[in-house]
Amino acid sequence: MTHDLLEKKSLLMAVVSTIVILIGGIVEIVPLYAVKAQVPAIAGVKPYTPLEVEGRDIYLREGCYTCHSQMVRPFRDEAERYGPYSKAGEFVYDHPFQWGSKRTGPDLHRVGGKYPNSWHYIHMRNPRDVSPDSIMPNYPWLLSRGLDTSTTQRKLRALRTVGVPYTDEEIAAADQSLRKQADEIVASLKSAQIADAEADREIIALIAYLQRLGMDINWRNSDATAQR
Ligand code: HEC
Repeated sequence: MTHDLLEKKSLLMAVVSTIVILIGGIVEIVPLYAVKAQVPAIAGVKPYTPLEVEGRDIYLREGCYTCHSQMVRPFRDEAERYGPYSKAGEFVYDHPFQWGSKRTGPDLHRVGGKYPNSWHYIHMRNPRDVSPDSIMPNYPWLLSRGLDTSTTQRKLRALRTVGVPYTDEEIAAADQSLRKQADEIVASLKSAQIADAEADREIIALIAYLQRLGMDINWRNSDATAQR
């Protein structure tokens, strides 16, 4: 069969090209599913704590992703502004991930540890109290609404079915763990003169989540510049 034949018969040409493209596609796509090392594991990356899982759900409920992305792109200007660019392995326990592309506000992937807890508390109540020209909305109800923890254990179990390695003990102790982490955050708020902070409020879970973002690679303390 010479090439002439293929070029003269358009239907045959279409069939043969489809087969060639399919083979190429399979060669490219199958390894993505089959080879685990496609997403290199990062040692420090741990599942969210129960309080952070609740905080993350508040982040989703309030639609924070409509203004904030969570992916620092691998460009010099982004790394200078936000910190080391985001790696795929940092999101293995994010279901669903919050990368996004809409940036009315800044990227939040490396916001963990950037501000004290009290800053977030004040910022969520009224962003203009700490960031005068902000166009971010107020979220005052987060400070008064109680955190619903009746489904926390079920959320952890659901996450386990999609591959987050929570142990039975961790799920059983979710309430204690949540309470302990919330108490620590409230203690830090009180010592920053925020007298009305209470451990069972939604804002506490959201702060826990925000402070966790981008912190698994421990870049703030160590050789931050080397990682950029
Ligand atoms: C209408 C768009 C909009 C929405 C919705 C929004 N934000 Fe913002 N956000 C902004 C803008 C603009 C800024 C920058 C000014 C400022 O600091 O307030 C910002 C700043 C922030 C910062 C500080 C980031 C930094 O690095 O300084 C945090 C944290 C934050 N937002 C969290 C949230 C959370 C949590 C939610 C959801 C409850 C949310 N935002 C919803 C627009 C938005």
